[in-house]
Amino acid sequence: MNYLINENNYSIQIFGLTKKYNDQIAVNSINLAIKRGEVFSLLGPNGAGKTTTIQMLCCLLKPTAGTATVMGYDINKNPSAVKEVIDISPQETAIASHLTAWENLMLIGGINGLKKEETKKRAKELIELMGLTERANEQVQNFSGGMQRRLSIAMALISDPPVLFLDEPTLGLDPQARKTIWKQIKHLKEKKQSF
Ligand SMILES: Nc1ncnc2c1ncn2[C@@H]1O[C@H](COP(=O)(O)OP(=O)(O)OP(=O)(O)O)[C@@H](O)[C@H]1O
Ligand SMILES: [Mg+2]
Repeated sequence: MNYLINENNYSIQIFGLTKKYNDQIAVNSINLAIKRGEVFSLLGPNGAGKTTTIQMLCCLLKPTAGTATVMGYDINKNPSAVKEVIDISPQETAIASHLTAWENLMLIGGINGLKKEETKKRAKELIELMGLTERANEQVQNFSGGMQRRLSIAMALISDPPVLFLDEPTLGLDPQARKTIWKQIKHLKEKKQSF
């Protein structure tokens, strides 16, 4: 992968991206350019099209019109390359409820192709960061909504992707957890800017 040396300065460029469901326009021809190392927040009321936009950028949904590039890769022409350079914490938290927090992180690390030792190290750091240390070995189905959210974000962070999508990352979190997430996002931004 040569995404770190791709020629332009943008992590994401969006060109007339549109999604229609029959006559309903979910995303109406948006254009955006997001610089590398930038933390970009997409704000809008319920139903504005934020999740739909993220799903198109992650190649989980095909645009009706327009396109975008992620680290230089076109979402329509090269979805497999796009998937290599992203990770996502979806709005509807996707975790395996019968597994423990630790097992969820190990599983997702493996899916991302990380070595076992590396996954263990990252999982330990992320569990601590998200304040889940004491509950790490408990089945996730016993977690509160906010705790599941924190685990979902830890899972998105494990592969340390060049581009990370967080859909409503602080939904349902208490003020303290919200602060922790923003602190971590700022920390990630500093790390990514050093590229
Ligand atoms: N599978 C679908 N079929 C039909 N319409 C859909 C579908 N998915 C989303 N929509 C519509 O697309 C529009 C945008 O929805 P989307 O979920 O992207 O909004 P959002 O900005 O993420 O909202 P929220 O803040 O509630 O998460 C809404 O009008 C929604 O009803
Ligand atoms: Mg949404």
